This record gives sequence, C-alpha cells and structure tokens, in this order.
Amino acid sequence: MNSLTRVLFALMIVAAAPAFAQQPAPVSAEEQAILDEEARLEAEEATAEASATANDPTAPNPAPAFPELRPVLDEFGGEAGLTALMETFMVGLVADPRTKPFFANADQERVKRQLTEQFCVILGGDCTYSGRDMRSAHVGQNIDRGHFNALVEILQVAMDQHGVPFRAQNKLLAKLAPMHREVVTE
Ligand code: HEM
Repeated sequence: MNSLTRVLFALMIVAAAPAFAQQPAPVSAEEQAILDEEARLEAEEATAEASATANDPTAPNPAPAFPELRPVLDEFGGEAGLTALMETFMVGLVADPRTKPFFANADQERVKRQLTEQFCVILGGDCTYSGRDMRSAHVGQNIDRGHFNALVEILQVAMDQHGVPFRAQNKLLAKLAPMHREVVTE
C-alpha cells in the first residue's frame, strides 16, 4: 500500500465511523422479547384509549340540551351540586350488589365527571359533554332492564340524600329514561 492509498483508506474509515457508531447495539433474545412486549403493550394502550373515546355516529345524542330545564339545574345546586351528587351516586353504585360488578373496576373518576357534564348539559347548564355516546359507553356490558332500574333507584336515593325536590328529580329522570334503548342490550 503506498502512502496515498493509505491516506485514502484512513479517510474512508473516518468517514464511515459515524455510520458504524449509529448502528444499534446488538440485542439479545431476552432484550428483544422485552422490546416486543413493550411495543405490544403500547399498541394495546393506544387501542384502549381510542375505544375510550370512540363514538358511534349512528347513536342518538347522549347529552341533548333542554334550556327550559335551567331552573331544575338550580334545584340540583348547579354544576357543583351535580359534582357532589355523583360522589354519593358512585358510593351507592359500588355498594349495591346489582350494580357493583359494573362499577367496581370502572374508571370511577371518569364516570362521575362524564355524568356531571351529561346531566349539566341536559339540564340546560353552560357545560360541555366530552364523553361517549350511550351505545358506545355501554356496549358489551350485558346490561339488562333490572340493572337499569337498579341504577335509577340508586340515583333516586342519592338525589333524596342531596335534598333535590321530587319534581326536579323526575324532570331529569324523564330525559334519561329513553336512553335505556342504547344502554340495555339484554
Ligand atoms: C340512563 C342511564 C345511564 C346513563 C345516563 C349513563 C351514563 C353514562 C356515562 C355518561 C358514562 C361515561 C361515558 C364515557 O366514559 O365516555 C357511562 C359509563 C358507564 N356506565 Fe352508564 N349510564 C347509564 C346506565 C348504566 C347502567 C344501567 C349501567 C350498569 C348497571 C352502567 C354502567 C356503566 C359503566 C360500567 C360505565 C363505564 C364504562 C367504561 O369505563 O368503559 N350505566 N355511563
């Protein structure tokens, strides 16, 4: 090798070095298995997140606004009253053996928040409902009429405990009742 060739050869190695440096270090089978598992979990999380917000475009509006019910919202104590009501409601849902299996492992904070938003919009409040439609939220849960009636009963007990007048309770329940078409699947 003459000196010119030697210099050229050295230059080639220097030029190629960064490329070599960027090569990922070889991974063992165990490390690869961990990486694969991580990728799988990430994909699973992304799917769960998507379905947590997915909506069925053919489902009815889960939070139709009734501006004429704005005085009823006041009888619930406004949005703050609804937030407080949901605390009692969720305690009842988790305590009652008929509804416990549905709510024990649910994201209770999210359900309480979404219910507050939903009821607030229905009662003509200045709120926005950011949850799913009723069909998407309850699909695959095998909810029957008995479960539905149990939930309404527990809601009535909670409303009583919060001093919501009977007439105001019924105004809300009348708007929720038709939702059994999307919620009850059994
Ligand atoms: C008129 C009746 C009902 C209304 C208005 C209602 C409303 C809602 C709302 C707003 C959500 C949250 C949606 C979201 O996360 O985007 C939800 C979720 C849920 N509801 Fe209902 N619901 C009703 C009946 C029921 C019944 C009868 C059951 C079972 C006994 C039930 C079980 C659940 C469960 C377990 C979740 C959480 C689902 C999840 O995290 O994927 N719901 N419901």
